[in-house]
Amino acid sequence: MSGPRQAVLVLLVCGMIGQVEAAGAEVLAFDEAERQLIESHGPWPPAPRHDPSNRVSGNPDAIELGRHLYFDAELSIDGSMSCATCHIPKTGLGDGLATGKGREQLSRNTPHLFNLAYSRWYGWGGGADSLWAQSIRPIMAPLEMAATPTHVVTRIKDQPLLSCLYQKTFGSPVAGHGEQEGLVNAAKSLAAFQETMVTGRTSFDAFRDALLAGDSNSADQYPVEAQRGLKLFVGKGQCSLCHFGPQFTNGEFGDVGIPHFHGKGVVDKGRYGGIQNLQKTPYSLAGPFSDDGTEKTARKTRHVTLQDRNWGEFKTPSLRNVAETAPYMHNGSLPTLDAVVRHYSEIDEARLHVDGEKILKPLHLSVQETGDLVAFLKSLSAPLVQPINEDMTAAECSPGHTNQRP
Ligand code: HEC
Ligand code: HEC
Repeated sequence: MSGPRQAVLVLLVCGMIGQVEAAGAEVLAFDEAERQLIESHGPWPPAPRHDPSNRVSGNPDAIELGRHLYFDAELSIDGSMSCATCHIPKTGLGDGLATGKGREQLSRNTPHLFNLAYSRWYGWGGGADSLWAQSIRPIMAPLEMAATPTHVVTRIKDQPLLSCLYQKTFGSPVAGHGEQEGLVNAAKSLAAFQETMVTGRTSFDAFRDALLAGDSNSADQYPVEAQRGLKLFVGKGQCSLCHFGPQFTNGEFGDVGIPHFHGKGVVDKGRYGGIQNLQKTPYSLAGPFSDDGTEKTARKTRHVTLQDRNWGEFKTPSLRNVAETAPYMHNGSLPTLDAVVRHYSEIDEARLHVDGEKILKPLHLSVQETGDLVAFLKSLSAPLVQPINEDMTAAECSPGHTNQRP
């Protein structure tokens, strides 16, 4: 007689076990210090940022002009390359190569262009202090697009769509502007376009928010390996000390023991060369082309001083979408995330700056810990919020008609 009731009970119990197993997962215990650090890596996405030094930052016409310039090989002196030749949308906005390939082999890795509106310095050595200034470098670099201000202005003047978009964005034809001003305006449009390259919410962001809200049903969706990796990232690994905040970078420079020699006796000066460039270029926030009348943004550049320790320091990269941007480091010498984690695990302290932060110590991670940290790094990926439109045919421009915000 107890048959049916027993069956129901068995079903219930099985159902409950089933539920626990389906959720599959557990949420590790994180102590208060860990929770605070995890909290500091969000929220995401950040509020949109307007660049006060660029008057067309966020302007839909400028974004459209920048998009066309980005894919325009005729911007280079001989029609051979555009920004998209090296910063390829399909390969994480980099080129997948150890070091970039211009007219000759370049000495630095091509970085991705994700979330750059929020950066403080640009380039591995921080040779530029704004996204528009950084966008001038490849146009003029002899080993890259090798153009001149005259070439850029002539290209915009002669191409009907570019010329129309320029006039709409800046209120007068490019011919009415000086050549340097025309070049800077092109770069400001390129910057406005790159500012739209914001990545979306990742499984880490969902976990962070659920953990803080005490929502264990959502938190347990995050793989337990990634949770263990996160524990290492904020704890024993001390990675958060440099890769901190929602962007996973302090926006500054460091030395993590990657050699800065390339070729026979040639040294990459890193941040040292970057500061030298900042101090001499007219294209900086302290120069005549910044649109920030308050001069507030110029302060960081005016206050920077050259120090010996800047030799061989490189920008701490953001780790959002890091799984999409192999190979790694300023010289592209580490092919995989596994290799990066093993580098930190076995770091040679003798190679680090003597006066550098004494943060890095060999971590001697086990095989499982290495895999956990890699699983965590992989959980920082998400597609762009606004996918890049590579279609150049549909564009229309008539002076007077204002494009809608995309
Ligand atoms: C020949 C390959 C090549 C081309 C073409 C190229 N880049 Fe780059 N880009 C690089 C390399 C290499 C670096 C790193 C340079 C450095 O550290 O000084 C870089 C760095 C950058 C950065 C700095 C990113 C950061 O994280 O700080 C931005 C922004 C950028 N490029 C935008 C552009 C734009 C815009 C164009 C087109 C006008 C362009 N690039 C064309 C190879 C290229
Ligand atoms: C002392 C500051 C510091 C600490 C601590 C630190 N990093 Fe870095 N990280 C950097 C700098 C600086 C670079 C770039 C170095 C270079 O290119 O020469 C970098 C590069 C990376 C890269 C390559 C990203 C790319 O796009 O090329 C990854 C991945 C990374 N770090 C992960 C970690 C992890 C994981 C930890 C903890 C085990 C960690 N970092 C600890 C400063 C730091």
